[in-house]
Order: sequence, then C-alpha cells, then structure tokens
Amino acid sequence: MRLLVTGAAGFIGSNFVHQTVRERPEVQVTVLDALTYAGSEASLAPSRAAITFVEGDVTDAELVDRLVADADVVVHFAAESHNDNSLSNPWPFVQTNIVGTFTLLEAVRRHGTRYHHISTDEVYGDLELDDPRKFTPETPYNPSSPYSATKASSDLLVRAWVRSFGVQATISNCSNNYGPYQHVEKFIPRQITNLIDGIRPKLYGQGLNVRDWIHVEDHNSAVWTIIDKGRIGETYLIGADGEKNNREVVELILELSGLDSDAFDLVSDRPGHDMRYAIDSSKLRTELGWAPRYSNFEDGLAATIDWYRANEAWWRPQKDATEAKYAQIGR
Ligand code: NAD
Ligand code: TYD
Repeated sequence: MRLLVTGAAGFIGSNFVHQTVRERPEVQVTVLDALTYAGSEASLAPSRAAITFVEGDVTDAELVDRLVADADVVVHFAAESHNDNSLSNPWPFVQTNIVGTFTLLEAVRRHGTRYHHISTDEVYGDLELDDPRKFTPETPYNPSSPYSATKASSDLLVRAWVRSFGVQATISNCSNNYGPYQHVEKFIPRQITNLIDGIRPKLYGQGLNVRDWIHVEDHNSAVWTIIDKGRIGETYLIGADGEKNNREVVELILELSGLDSDAFDLVSDRPGHDMRYAIDSSKLRTELGWAPRYSNFEDGLAATIDWYRANEAWWRPQKDATEAKYAQIGR
C-alpha cells in the first residue's frame, strides 16, 4: 500500500506514522506537511529513514494532485488545530481546514483514491455537565469556535463529495488526544512544561470543563481499523470513555509531579468555551471490533510527563513563543 499522510509533522500524524512504520512495515509512507509553527521534522525523526517527506501545502493543487496520483490511500490530518489561535486569527483555519480539504477531495476524486478524513468531536458543539447523552454519529453539527466551524465545514465537504461524486471516503471524529509530540500550546503539555519551568498550571474559568481524553495511540489504531474495515461514506466516532474535568487533570499532573494538588491558578476563561465533550464510540466498537488499549489515564499521563521531561530539546524551541502568545490574551 502507498499511503499519503498529510500533516504528519504534527502531533497525531507523527504518532500515526511511527505506529505505521512499527506495525506495518510493508506500507510505503509519504508525508505532506507545510511545517507551520505546529509542525516539526523532529517529530518524524524516529521514522525518517523509512518514509518520504515532502514539505508543501495542502492547498497547493498541483503538488497535491501529483502526490495523490502516486497514492493508494490518503489520510488527511493536516489542519490548523488550536481553538485559542482560531479566536485570535481565524483566516488560516478557513484556508487550511476548508480549502485544504477541498483541494484533497478534488484530487482523490480525479484519481479514484481511497480517502480517510480526520476530524474532531468539537463539530457537535458541547453538552451540559449533567446531560446523560454523549455524541453519536446522529448528533446534529453545532460548532462553537472558528476552529470547530472549519472542521465541521470540511466534514460536510467530504460527505457531499461522497454523495455527489462517489468519492471513496470515510470520516472519523475523535475526542481530545494526549501523548508524546503534542505542541506545548495544548492543555496537557502546557501544564507539564510549565511545571518543568517552575510555573503554576493555568486553568481557564473554574476548571470545570470536561474533555473525553484518549491516548493518541488509541486514536491511531482506530484510524487503521477504519482504513481496513470501515464502510465507505460512513462516519465513525472515536473515544475511550475518558471524561475528566480540567481541574482533575491538573490535580493529577501536580500529584504525579510530587506537588500539592491545589498549586494551580485560575485564569480568565476562553470566549465561547465548550463545556463538555463526550463520545459514544459503540458503532466503531461493535461494527468494526475496535477497542482502546490505554485504559488507565493515570498511567498514560505519567508516561507523557516522563516523555516531556526526557525530550526537552523537542519542545523547548516552541515554549517562549507559545507563552508570549498566551500573555497577549491574558491567559
Ligand atoms: P497539530 O497542530 O499538532 O498538527 C497539524 C500539522 O498540520 C502540523 O504538522 C502542520 O505543519 C500541518 N499543517 C498545517 N497547515 C498545513 C497546510 N496548509 N498544509 C500542510 N500541512 C499543514 O494537530 P494535531 O493535534 O496533530 O491534529 C491533527 C488532526 O486531528 C487535525 O485535523 C485535528 O483537527 C484532528 N483532531 C485533533 C485532536 C486533538 O486532540 N489534538 C482531536 C480530534 C481530532
Ligand atoms: P485544548 O488543549 O486547547 O483543547 P480543546 O480546546 O480542543 O478541547 O484545551 C483543553 C481544555 O483545557 C479546554 O477546556 C481548555 C482548557 N485549557 C486550560 O484550562 N488551560 C490552558 O492553559 C489551556 C491551553 C487549555
């Protein structure tokens, strides 16, 4: 299989490539990544010798056409991915997430290539804390932020290209990921690296917002399950029943770091901040037989803290610029 993976110099895509090289050595992997602030070739280093890396933009129609022509399967991770950035400057989100997906869809349509679209549970908006329901593939789209609105738009393009043009596509909507190689702008790595620098963790609002955490390896094993067995045109929700509020996560990071669990600060809230996400992944589990392997969040978090401690050279170059951006918005 010749596999084109977009955005694989970022967090989830780089882990996807490492998993693929490790577990499926017969797959020929080509990565297309623009190396934005969020991408780093260093994230691909362990697999570098086994893959082809192309630096380029998913909105570059000529380049995308050439790469898709040489692929059997495309997995599209590339995106602008951070909500706080989308509130400061939405334009790159429209460009990469919507126009980039359009560009890939047109190429896979021309070449008849199998396409898997990586998306987020944030397209469904949010749930109240006491709502017994979780998101299902039938939940109506109701995105809150420029980030989630552009991801929702890209999903709808995929659905339209399947129905109108017969494109061979599947979609997955996953909950919040954690694990190695996640940019220090995101919640968990930000707090881990702040603690390494002697800075107290920062919780938005009251810290009561709930996210449904999944280890990145579990997200990626689910993506492979969908590539192997997913039905064309279907949407699969990926989640590992990992609901926790942000305060619980910070308390755990503090405890695992040997510090008092209340040694955090509350900072101003994010505008439009989604309260709660929760995934019902029963379709993926019952129809395709997938199950997560990282069932213990505390163990996964401890391993992630160890990874950031051992890999300061990887995250240090991004840390000051990231905190400078947060300082500008008072968080
Ligand atoms: P990331 O920000 O860590 O990585 C994004 C990668 O895309 C970077 O390497 C960047 O250089 C690349 N990129 C950005 N714009 C590009 C462009 N125009 N052309 C080519 N490459 C470009 O993101 P991530 O957290 O790894 O997320 C990957 C995908 O998974 C995204 O589609 C995101 O919406 C989705 N997702 C993320 C999460 C999560 O918890 N992080 C959860 C569910 C779904
Ligand atoms: P984030 O990693 O930005 O992911 P998302 O917005 O896609 O869920 O944030 C996860 C949660 O953590 C979200 O509720 C916002 C919150 N948060 C903080 O409380 N403090 C922080 O410093 C950051 C970056 C996020």
